[in-house]
Amino acid sequence: MNINRKKLLLVMLVISCLGCFCFTAGDKAFSINKKLGRGINLGNALEAPKEGQWGITLRKEYLELIKQAGFDSIRVPIRWSAHAEKNAPYTIDPNFFERVDWVIDNSLSNSLYVIINMHHYEEIFNDPNSHAERFIELWKQIAEQYKNQPDSVLFEFLNEPHNMLDDDKWNKLSAETLKEVRKTNPDRIVLIGPGSWNNLGKLDKLQLPADDDNIIVTIHYYEPFQFTHQGASWIGEQTESWLGTKWTGTDGQKTAVIKDFEKACRWGKEHNKPVNLGEFGANSKADMDSRARWTSFVARQAEMQGFSWHYWEFCAYFGVYDKDNHKWRQPLLKALISDSNEQPD
Ligand code: BGC
Repeated sequence: MNINRKKLLLVMLVISCLGCFCFTAGDKAFSINKKLGRGINLGNALEAPKEGQWGITLRKEYLELIKQAGFDSIRVPIRWSAHAEKNAPYTIDPNFFERVDWVIDNSLSNSLYVIINMHHYEEIFNDPNSHAERFIELWKQIAEQYKNQPDSVLFEFLNEPHNMLDDDKWNKLSAETLKEVRKTNPDRIVLIGPGSWNNLGKLDKLQLPADDDNIIVTIHYYEPFQFTHQGASWIGEQTESWLGTKWTGTDGQKTAVIKDFEKACRWGKEHNKPVNLGEFGANSKADMDSRARWTSFVARQAEMQGFSWHYWEFCAYFGVYDKDNHKWRQPLLKALISDSNEQPD
């Protein structure tokens, strides 16, 4: 081989390595988002002020049932702020950590990917300046605790930033938190969502650190709100007057969902970020036919746009599982897990 051919080969090798590097940047986030696939929120358990207070105590069998039914992952809403000291160093209660360890262990032993989030940190929504330091310190402890877990354990910084935690403040706080988390978890996948309750309409305001590829962007979807939140007492009395609202799947109703998801998909493509639909669901006060129809349509649209998704939620008000009678609500389960594009009538 003469010297010029050797040089040419070397240049080709370098180019192919660079090419490979360019193409693999961010691939991990995309491939893990695929693995998250179809999932469920274990709602109303660990994000209650105390587990059990909202009627749900997690059980080993729940994880087994979820896996057997065909789901790929779970999202675990957690109220860390209620289980940590109010003052520095804001130590998280070791017993509470053990409980979360238990959820992670049982998810992994059932081959479920698991998202550990921070939920209902109400104080930070009212007074972000006073709680930013505590928020970061809580995440430093969580990151340290789970730094040796496999890639199938993911972190989500904060459920539904809103109120005084506006877009600018949230962009700054999530960037600072990421910097700290990266010290112990250099390439763990982290989920971050836009402000105003993870509203996809706020994606344009979301700013993520440009040099971090291991991020999945998460959004929530409860539109039309008067349908999904009819009779939802925690939202307010006005929801009583929404009772009876149906979702029949008219062209207009479907187009609204499609347009919203196309917008999120476009944003993901422009920013080279995979998208997760971290919450969607309809309250049990709505009629079952409408719920199943809406759930199926939203889940299939999300899949068509390449989003992973997590139904809100397992066995409370929106529940797909009836824990008292130990059985799945079949129309909802079918709406979620069915592979067909057919919509229920
Ligand atoms: C909240 C839940 C609520 C659900 C639907 C979630 O983000 O944390 O408390 O039930 O949204 O409103």
